[in-house]
Amino acid sequence: MANPLLQAINLTKRYGQFTALSNLNIKIVGPKCVGFLGPNGAGKTTTLKLFTDMIRPTYGHALINGVDVHKNKKIALSMVGTLIETPEVYPSLTEKEALFMIAEIKGVPHKFLERSVKEVVNKVKMKRWLDQKVGKMSKGMKQRINIAAALLGDPDIILLDEPTSGLDPRGMSEVREIIKDLKKEKKLIFMSSHLLSEVSEICDEVALINHGKLMAYGPINEVTSRFSNGRTAIIEVSTIRPLQSSVIKRIRKINGVRGVDILDTKRFNLRLFGGIDAQQKLLESLVKLRIGVISFKPSASALEETYLSVFKETV
Ligand SMILES: Nc1ncnc2c1ncn2[C@@H]1O[C@H](COP(=O)(O)OP(=O)(O)O)[C@@H](O)[C@H]1O
Ligand SMILES: [Mg+2]
Repeated sequence: MANPLLQAINLTKRYGQFTALSNLNIKIVGPKCVGFLGPNGAGKTTTLKLFTDMIRPTYGHALINGVDVHKNKKIALSMVGTLIETPEVYPSLTEKEALFMIAEIKGVPHKFLERSVKEVVNKVKMKRWLDQKVGKMSKGMKQRINIAAALLGDPDIILLDEPTSGLDPRGMSEVREIIKDLKKEKKLIFMSSHLLSEVSEICDEVALINHGKLMAYGPINEVTSRFSNGRTAIIEVSTIRPLQSSVIKRIRKINGVRGVDILDTKRFNLRLFGGIDAQQKLLESLVKLRIGVISFKPSASALEETYLSVFKETV
């Protein structure tokens, strides 16, 4: 399968005099999860709606795998799964009935209906409730069915608008786990969120939008170091084994390290002076120390600092 590709060219949406989205140019290539972050009213939902032709652009193009959504809606939409503005699934139908109906609407061939529904239900871990009425389910379960519906037809691009919004902590965590699983299936996931910790946890890249303008797009550590302006970057490191205090002393001595904040026995934050080159050297040094590094990523607080500096006038 070719690399999934989501692209906007000069994509603009005006409502009268008001510009909700201004000349968006972005090209997202390959399987990955991209967080779309910005304050309320920034233009996130507008962008996602333009990518699904729910609204028309004033000018510019929204492309799904190179196909203009507005010009070739049917072909473009067959390659994308969307969850925008949480639709109410039919409360009087069972989960199975609802998904069969949506699969039919989406044009899944008859002979594949059963198998397609089974597959997506497994992906969102909702098999046990197939015969239960949707109206009786919790918000989190309904949201998992919405995601299942987006996955019908096996699209390689998934657009999600604040997928965990309004859910309780368990519901949020279940939805995040589903998104992490989708990443393993080589999907391109573009999800809006206003939760920095969520984007840090599950996304590889981040796009920042404010007042309808794209402020930055790139890998999270690149974006955070770009805005840290030579200030300190914060990297969260997890290890497979608990850390010995002797090792922590050695970590403190690594070039560029400004400080170590212990989060728990197998997790610490490193405050680091310098950009991504410094981060790369730091990771090499940590690996040499054989502490069993299993993850190395900008901490949620690094993204928070970037967010606050980009959006300072609105916060
Ligand atoms: N149908 C509409 N008519 C006029 N203004 C709109 C309409 N839809 C959205 N907007 C405005 O466009 C801006 C962007 O909205 P939206 O994309 O929903 O923001 P976000 O999802 O980032 O919170 C907001 O200021 C909103 O009020
Ligand atoms: Mg929105």
